[in-house]
Amino acid sequence: METALAKTPQNRQVTFLAILLLLWEADSEAVRYSMPEETESGSIVANLAKDLGLGVGGLATRGARIHHKENKQLLQLDVKTGNLLLYEKLDRELLCGATEPCVLHFQLLLENPVQFVQIELQLNDINDHSPEFLESEMLLKIPESVQPGTVFPLKTALDSDIGSNTVQDYTILPNSHFHVLTHNRGDGRKYPELVLDKALDREEQPELRLTLTALDGGAPPRSGTTAVRIEVVDINDNAPEFSQPLYEAKVLESSPLKSLVVAVSARDLDAGTYGNVAYSLFQGDEVTQPFVIDEITGEIRLKRILDFEATRYYNVEIVATDGGGLSGKCTVAVEVVDVNDNAPKLTMSTITSPTPENAPETVVAVFSVSDPDSGDNGKMICSIQDDLPFLLKPTFKNFYMLVTERPLDRESRAEYNITITVTDLGSPRLKTEHNITVLVSDVNDNAPTFSQSSYTLYIRENNSPALYIGSVSATDRDSGTNAQVTYSLLPPQDPHLPIASLVSMNADNGHLFALRSLDYEALRAFEFRMGAVDSGSPALSSEALVRVVILDENDNSPFVLYPLQNGSAPCTELVPRAADVGYLVTKVVAVDGDSGQNAWLSYQLLKATEPGLFSVWAHNGEVRTARLLSERDATKHRLVVLVKDNGEPPMSATVTLHVLLVDGFSQPYLPLLEVAKELTQADSLTVYLVIALASVSTLFLFSVLLFVAVRLCRRNRAASVGRNPVPESYFPDHLVDVTNTGTLSHSYQYEICLTGDSGTNDFKFLKPIIPNLPPQSTSKEIDKNTTFRNSFGFN
Ligand SMILES: *[C@@H]1O[C@H](CO)[C@@H](O)[C@H](O)[C@H]1NC(C)=O
Ligand SMILES: *[C@@H]1O[C@H](CO)[C@@H](O)[C@H](O)[C@H]1NC(C)=O
Ligand SMILES: *[C@@H]1O[C@H](CO)[C@@H](O)[C@H](O)[C@H]1NC(C)=O
Repeated sequence: METALAKTPQNRQVTFLAILLLLWEADSEAVRYSMPEETESGSIVANLAKDLGLGVGGLATRGARIHHKENKQLLQLDVKTGNLLLYEKLDRELLCGATEPCVLHFQLLLENPVQFVQIELQLNDINDHSPEFLESEMLLKIPESVQPGTVFPLKTALDSDIGSNTVQDYTILPNSHFHVLTHNRGDGRKYPELVLDKALDREEQPELRLTLTALDGGAPPRSGTTAVRIEVVDINDNAPEFSQPLYEAKVLESSPLKSLVVAVSARDLDAGTYGNVAYSLFQGDEVTQPFVIDEITGEIRLKRILDFEATRYYNVEIVATDGGGLSGKCTVAVEVVDVNDNAPKLTMSTITSPTPENAPETVVAVFSVSDPDSGDNGKMICSIQDDLPFLLKPTFKNFYMLVTERPLDRESRAEYNITITVTDLGSPRLKTEHNITVLVSDVNDNAPTFSQSSYTLYIRENNSPALYIGSVSATDRDSGTNAQVTYSLLPPQDPHLPIASLVSMNADNGHLFALRSLDYEALRAFEFRMGAVDSGSPALSSEALVRVVILDENDNSPFVLYPLQNGSAPCTELVPRAADVGYLVTKVVAVDGDSGQNAWLSYQLLKATEPGLFSVWAHNGEVRTARLLSERDATKHRLVVLVKDNGEPPMSATVTLHVLLVDGFSQPYLPLLEVAKELTQADSLTVYLVIALASVSTLFLFSVLLFVAVRLCRRNRAASVGRNPVPESYFPDHLVDVTNTGTLSHSYQYEICLTGDSGTNDFKFLKPIIPNLPPQSTSKEIDKNTTFRNSFGFN
């Protein structure tokens, strides 16, 4: 204290006091008292008067007063009683702090004589303060990796008290992981240390809240607490761990890109970056696997379209890595689920086309089918159209043969378009079609057939040689050379027919040609057989009958048979002057070598010496008197009769008749006339005549009927033969039909009666074999003519 005063030399008063003190110290001693701190004010510390031996009132007389340091009054002196009282409650901690012992110094100043008494008051500590921590909470960050036994210093608690009243001990609660050691510092104070008993695990308990208690040594002890928060500092002691070691996923092969396969997740118990997990495919898999994984979410998605047929299973290793580099792995097994995405495939091995017809079961095609899908998606059904004569036969696994069901017939169908349909059983069903065309090859199984079984060809006579007549044709239902038809003439049935000189045939096309000019009058028709043969092997053939009908041309002029024209002596007819009108002078008989219309003859009087005297009946050539003869008529008459056929153009011939009018018949005939007269006179003869007439008439009637019947038949046949047949009804009245053999028609058949070598050779008579009834004639005339002719039968 003195040194402190000495150090303030500016203060004169202090300097003065110091001198006084020095004086006091020299001759006085200190009065020492002690008392506990915090005693109530007014408490008596001591009776100073008694202690100084001054007696009651001694103090007052001496003017004792307490001199406080720094003028802060702590004590009070009751001068009457001499008691030294506490002016106020004294706090040791305040007055002395940690200084021990805590002694307060006072000076008692006495006057008369001046005397200084040192008074020392020692305040004794009481436990009036609790230990106190400066912070309400302590934070410790302890890595979880710290080993047990490690010591962590803790902040000490303060206690203003001293001695044993200061902090003596520390405890911590709850002490599951720690205990507290209390150490003595060099200055006697205690400090705590936290000792780790049991390893920390942040993942288990990231934070511990403890309460540290400091106890002092007072009685009763006081305590102070503070919270200790221990943050367990994470270290990367946990690898990421997947929730499942194996994930299984099924994915349709048809799944689109980026579709989710599966999401994996890994957990890392560490915190912060140590706990942040990044997912990735195991090294190298990024390239080979069709998956990508989201680094953060762990979703595995498709990167490429899957193909069940290529790969059915994938094993993907997924790695999860935390920020500290630790990693965990899991496996994702991805099964690709088949989708019916492949249509069946058909592979044709062989096709036998063309396939021969008429063959028994033949293999037409061999093929195999395949479908890369699995299950029902890969099962297949094969079919062809129902209506075809083919069968599908399975051979072995997925191999099929297409065989003919029955012999084929190229002629009915030469080409088959077969659609082979392969369908799988998936859903939806997929199918493949394969079209094959099977051609049927020809076998010579069909003979050529003529378009008609018989042909009738017509040719006009007088044709130019090598004239085309017509053609025949035969077809062959086969094809190629099997259908190449060659025509040939076959030997005729009639060995005498010189067929080779009549017609020739083009072997290739069946055209027929006449080799030479044909004459209707010589040959009206001929028949021959012809053959058609194909070029197959063996060749097949067929025959047909060809009838060539030669058509008539009007190439023959009528030929007059009677009267003869080439004779040196012309024929002379005798006509009695007494002849009635219509007397038959003679009959011109002509024939025509042609037929049909060409042979229909008509007669007409071309020239007459005396026109009007004679008439010629157009249709039969009968020359009759046209009027009664008179004496004036010339004796000799010359008639020119034209005979004309009905051809186009018509041809004609003329005949010259000589008629001699006589008064009576010349000598050789007279007797006959007389006999006739005699006969007429005889009754009996008349009777005979009548009978004869009757019988002749009957015979005639019968003949007419017979003839008409025959004639009708012939006419029909002739009409069908003619190229331009004239209708039956058209047959003109004035014409004479001399068809057929070129002879006289039956209806006008006469017997030419030629006289012999006698003098009557200029008389020629016609004797009617079958009398004809001219339409104009009366029955009387016929009777007469008949009579006449009968009468004039020659010898
Ligand atoms: C077969 O197919 C071909 C070409 O597609 C066609 O020309 C032919 O007419 C068809 N044949 C049949 C018999 O359908
Ligand atoms: C096969 O033929 C059928 C019928 O002729 C036709 O509809 C189809 O398109 C053809 N298929 C192929 C692949 O040519
Ligand atoms: C006249 O012609 C006929 C028939 O043609 C013949 O028979 C006869 O001998 C011929 N007479 C004469 C004299 O030429």
